[in-house]
Amino acid sequence: MLSVVSVEKSYATPQGPTPVLRGASLEVGRGESVALMGESGSGKSTLLHLIAGLDSADAGAIRIGNVEVTALDDAGRARLRRETVGVVFQQFNLIPSLTVADNLAFQARLADRHDAAWIATLTARLGLDGLGDRYPEQLSGGQQQRVAIGRALAARPALALADEPTGALDEGSADAFTALARDLAAETGCAFLMATHSARLAAMLDRTARISRGVVA
Ligand SMILES: Nc1ncnc2c1ncn2[C@@H]1O[C@H](COP(=O)(O)OP(=O)(O)OP(=O)(O)O)[C@@H](O)[C@H]1O
Ligand SMILES: [Mg+2]
Repeated sequence: MLSVVSVEKSYATPQGPTPVLRGASLEVGRGESVALMGESGSGKSTLLHLIAGLDSADAGAIRIGNVEVTALDDAGRARLRRETVGVVFQQFNLIPSLTVADNLAFQARLADRHDAAWIATLTARLGLDGLGDRYPEQLSGGQQQRVAIGRALAARPALALADEPTGALDEGSADAFTALARDLAAETGCAFLMATHSARLAAMLDRTARISRGVVA
């Protein structure tokens, strides 16, 4: 489902271009959940941004299904983020002016794939029944991240990416989030890639990929 082949990325710095990814390769299959680990600064967020089409690689190929992300123009990358990829970040995930129900439906509506029955199923699975009319500020951190993964999966994306989604959560909430994301991805055939510093959470997923010195081992 996701195929990253020999991706290179440097950032311009006052000291000249600094390489972060030096031929990173990674595969995530349909319904598979993979933890992306590596030291701070190793390039986890950089790789996730490239996969999501938020930035462009200097070299290499990124394919999601049969879409070659590295070949898309701006409009194509915007459509990719709308229809094919769901993303969860550490915080500031939800739209504060929308209720839980509207946050959940938001991306599916953008992708023109709103499915009330699927949203109802997600709401129940995520333990959010009865919270639909609340606003994000009225939820706990763990509840907010469960809404965020629900929103990311509501449009039935081929791929879900999460960048340290549990960084601001206690252990119990982090475990619950990770188990739900893994199970929902497996059930919907979505490929799930999650950057984390936690070996405990990584062990809950199918496999761990480790970035070190710009390559994935
Ligand atoms: N926009 C940018 N301009 C210049 N350098 C950058 C930029 N973004 C990231 N970097 C550098 O690239 C390297 C990789 O950063 P990245 O954020 O991908 O690491 P990370 O593995 O996600 O780290 P963390 O675990 O702390 O989130 C770091 O050295 C960082 O300073
Ligand atoms: Mg990061």
